[in-house]
Amino acid sequence: MVSYMRILSGVQSSGQLHIGNYYGALRQFVELQNEGEALYFIANLHALTSVRDGELARKLTLEAAVAFLALGVDPKKSILFRQSDIPEVTELYWVLGTVVPNAHLDRAHSYKDKIAKGISPNLGLYAYPVLMAVDILIYDSDVVPVGKDQKQHIEFARDWATTFNQTYGGEYFKLPNPRIQDATAVVPGIDGEKMSKSRKNTIDLFGDEKAVEKAIKSIKTDSTPPTDPKPAGGPLYQLLKVMAPAAEWPEIEKSWAAGGKGYGEYKKKLIEYYHAAFDGPRKRYAELMADRGEVERILLDGADRARAIALPVAQRVRKAVGLEEQNAVDLIHRRMASLNAGLQSVKHGSEPK
Ligand code: ADP
Ligand code: TRP
Repeated sequence: MVSYMRILSGVQSSGQLHIGNYYGALRQFVELQNEGEALYFIANLHALTSVRDGELARKLTLEAAVAFLALGVDPKKSILFRQSDIPEVTELYWVLGTVVPNAHLDRAHSYKDKIAKGISPNLGLYAYPVLMAVDILIYDSDVVPVGKDQKQHIEFARDWATTFNQTYGGEYFKLPNPRIQDATAVVPGIDGEKMSKSRKNTIDLFGDEKAVEKAIKSIKTDSTPPTDPKPAGGPLYQLLKVMAPAAEWPEIEKSWAAGGKGYGEYKKKLIEYYHAAFDGPRKRYAELMADRGEVERILLDGADRARAIALPVAQRVRKAVGLEEQNAVDLIHRRMASLNAGLQSVKHGSEPK
């Protein structure tokens, strides 16, 4: 039996990518592109909820695309594109929003967290999960690889797809499944809290090398003397566990429990692991940054292929809710084309058909 699976995920282009993004999400993207048809996108519309500078937003979108490619997303295997290049996404965002209960959005963790941090509430933040649900549903996605913090968003997408299907009496949307890698579900930051760009506790993937090493050296530790056994579980321990090659981890765990080494030595080890994992991608990142034409070509090709998947779903939904199936924009293009043909034939002395 041929098993066919459509995999989809996105990352917001709202700042520098960090190792939490890699181990929590991007690494899975790279692995999964061999297991089915993969679509990966830069969520640059979502990023507008926090980036309020057009130049910067454009720069971060490009950097995120380059980061995907540098880390191993292969445009021959996956479809890589920008969220904003698929206009049907914002159209369905409105349509799906008409069946979304406010009560769900009120209990969205991401929204509550942001408000708790003092960010002033706005419609973009509030409706964020609706746009995300459309991102998933519009491509008939089967599997959505993400970090643990995104699980609720996928549950919402399933809920609203079900409500929509029931309301309009058909299988308009396919129900997606989250895929969360448990071992690295939450990568801690250098302060021990969840690593996140908004907490400024990150170890960046493509940042300045000195800043990366400085961040690793400032990982929070306790005052256990070098000779003593170390308590398991703090951020340094967890980061070593995430980054050490599988064959080296048992050795580290043993020496950690036995004592004899200071935290400084373990931090040096972590710096080594960082370089072993990311020096290759960092080099590719620099090369691709110098070849933006190629990156743009990849993104436009990706948008073309993604749109071909999205359009039938969008048409299905338009039909269900009673909108014209023919997209008005396409209609305008066709009218312009026939007008042009008319003008051409007038020029050449024949009657337009
Ligand atoms: P941030 O929290 O830094 O703003 P995003 O929300 O943009 O990161 O997350 C992008 C992707 O990376 C999501 O799939 C998210 O679940 C994953 N991710 C982010 N931070 C971590 C982390 N510390 N551990 C594991 N996964 C993470
Ligand atoms: N909200 C996700 C994040 O912060 C990004 C995202 C937007 C996404 N749309 C998506 C992830 C659809 C998976 C599927 O990382």
